[in-house]
Amino acid sequence: MRKPFIAGNWKMNLGPVEGAKLAKELKEKVKNESCRVLVAPPFVTIASVKKELEGTNILIGAQNMSDQEKGAFTGEVSADMLIQSGVSVVILGHSERRAYYHEDDAFINRKVKLALKKGLEVILCIGETLEERKSGQLEKVLSTQISGGLKDLSKDDMKKVTIAYEPVWAIGTGVTATKEDANETQAFVRAQIKELFGDSIANNVIIQYGGSVKPNNVKDLMSQEHIDGALVGGASLTSENFVPIVLFDK
Ligand code: PGA
Repeated sequence: MRKPFIAGNWKMNLGPVEGAKLAKELKEKVKNESCRVLVAPPFVTIASVKKELEGTNILIGAQNMSDQEKGAFTGEVSADMLIQSGVSVVILGHSERRAYYHEDDAFINRKVKLALKKGLEVILCIGETLEERKSGQLEKVLSTQISGGLKDLSKDDMKKVTIAYEPVWAIGTGVTATKEDANETQAFVRAQIKELFGDSIANNVIIQYGGSVKPNNVKDLMSQEHIDGALVGGASLTSENFVPIVLFDK
């Protein structure tokens, strides 16, 4: 009953020309799939990708947005600008933003609330580092990121939120969490959502797994009860890799 949701996070790759080329290939090969499909290009690539994907079911996402509505915030991009550009989903709290740009849960929470208020859907990324996992802090780290990132949200808000569980040690490393490990952790994530928002929200919330998802492991991961989708980095950059991931159940 939870519709699979596969998202490609292009990170700082593919400019307007390269992005449009990939979008064209995707639109030819990905049609009316049983899952939701999203690509999240860099800001400057959104327009050319949007043009290419017009009239398709492939959603367009952004990788970040400002916590401010408008004004003198040099270098920032607002929720309204994203919406005007054809974006319907924004990825927030990615571990790279947490680690390299020092985004904390309170700051991420401000963006989550603003995005929802403006009518965007949110993919909230959470995940532990290897040190945190090894020192037995996995559950504490995740529950803090969940309660902090989703603070003050209503049940209605939660209908527009997807959680992406991405163990930091599995991102871009070629090391994937085992399907059992990922499933167990995502069951914990769902239980946390249940504590905060109740049964019905917890049963319906989409929880993606992210971290070295590839064509050869996606099916195994997606077969797990608590893995409802994937947030794909490196393997979303070519149609050769991303298409078979989207078609995992074919
Ligand atoms: P990866 O990235 O698939 O390259 O590991 C995942 C992510 O950071 O979303």
